[in-house]
Amino acid sequence: MSNPNLPLFPDRPEADGPKSAPGPDEELIRIADDTLKDGELKGVEFGDYGICLSKVDGKYHAIEDSCNHSGALLSGGRLDGPIVTCPRHFLRFSVRDGELQTNPKICDAQKVYPVVIKDGGVYCIVKKKTVA
Ligand code: FES
Repeated sequence: MSNPNLPLFPDRPEADGPKSAPGPDEELIRIADDTLKDGELKGVEFGDYGICLSKVDGKYHAIEDSCNHSGALLSGGRLDGPIVTCPRHFLRFSVRDGELQTNPKICDAQKVYPVVIKDGGVYCIVKKKTVA
């Protein structure tokens, strides 16, 4: 029997809208070729970044690959529409805005990286590394 007080797992749009150019403390990194099929997930490692790349309805999304609940890789999970299910404890996150889709909120939202498509590649906007 389902509980009517539980959330309906809404599919919310990106919180800040799409971003297409890096700011002064950010850079654009190419993380993959533009070859992902709709409904696919791909784990991408780039320097210090682990990114779970997905494509839903023709649009790419990039969120932190390491689940902030306990570190499993979301790219090893399952994608249903815009919702990825973590393979370890089955929490569900929106690939569009990183939001946890369960209640209570037992962990944070996943970090979201803005995606730019150009020159046949998929790019993410990330913070520049600071050199010590
Ligand atoms: S590690 Fe992802 S749900 Fe626990």
